[in-house]
Amino acid sequence: MSYRQLSITLSLLTLLLTFPPSSLAQLRLSPDNTFKLLQFADLHEGEGPDSWGSATDTRTESFLVRAITSEKPDLVVFSGDQITGLNVFSNATKYYQRLSDLVDPTPHTMILGNHDAEPYDGNGDQSDPGALTTRADLIAFDSSQSNSYSKLGPESLLPAVSTYVVDVLAAHDDSVALQLVHLDSGGGGMHEEVQANQVEWLKDELNLRRMTNGRPVPAIVFIHIPFAEIETTKEDGGNCWGVELDGVTPTDSDGGLFDLLASFEEVLAVFSGHDHCNSFCCALPTLDLCFGRHSSFGGYSCDAQAKEIGARGIEAKVDEDGGIQLKTWLRMFNGRVAEEHAL
Ligand SMILES: *[C@@H]1O[C@H](CO)[C@@H](O)[C@H](O)[C@H]1NC(C)=O
Repeated sequence: MSYRQLSITLSLLTLLLTFPPSSLAQLRLSPDNTFKLLQFADLHEGEGPDSWGSATDTRTESFLVRAITSEKPDLVVFSGDQITGLNVFSNATKYYQRLSDLVDPTPHTMILGNHDAEPYDGNGDQSDPGALTTRADLIAFDSSQSNSYSKLGPESLLPAVSTYVVDVLAAHDDSVALQLVHLDSGGGGMHEEVQANQVEWLKDELNLRRMTNGRPVPAIVFIHIPFAEIETTKEDGGNCWGVELDGVTPTDSDGGLFDLLASFEEVLAVFSGHDHCNSFCCALPTLDLCFGRHSSFGGYSCDAQAKEIGARGIEAKVDEDGGIQLKTWLRMFNGRVAEEHAL
């Protein structure tokens, strides 16, 4: 056995030890070879009474239920900032529990945003001491829910968490048809950045998966904070569509993540949140970058009168020969479908 083979075998063992096969049924394409996701972005539940308050959460939650009833997704993805950690003392997991119960029995995954475990920032206008539940505890809690496919990710990447890949199997056999990559852009209890060790981990992970799957399997990525490249593409008059009412605020450093994703042909699209009043997408040469749609009455909004909340739908259709087509759209608060587009 060569050194490389040995190290790959060891990585595989580590992977199995880190992520023991769970009792959850594997996700699978529907019989018509499609898989539909619904992205809920920036819910900001648990805002204090001085800002949005709990009546806001109730309104938001009724939208989530309606959106799921309309779309019947195969998987819900919560793309970070599920709660405003600063305003939630010690019961953060209660909100996570509520979100999980709300979408049940639909399976879901989560990543963290910069607000979920946000410590007190020294300003008198926010709760002191701020979030008492750590980033790792939040994701560990969610992954214990019976309909959750979230994972904590490798311990070596802490305090970055929610770094994991979920496989969707083919409809008629057990080959992997689609990979759902979940990443962490930090903030709230850690520096707001993509750690370079996370990028290294992902590179090894994608290479390992090419080997175990025998081919590059189509992949889509969820990360809370967007890439600077979506802004430069838009500014340069690139192929973009959808609403831009907000600034684009990437992390100071992406640790080389964008270049890595662009260099793997199987990575087709990246979905973010964070900048609430953006819901546009841009097609770059090798992959598409999209904002979700702010799905909540909590958290800031750019124009309270004009802004309508929504959720981003994403559908993958896998051909018999393993090729894939992606499309995306927004399911809006008033029930209509907007910005439908092939990726
Ligand atoms: C969390 O605790 C606060 C303060 O006691 C309370 O107002 C809120 O309803 C609780 N949230 C949940 C989801 O239980």
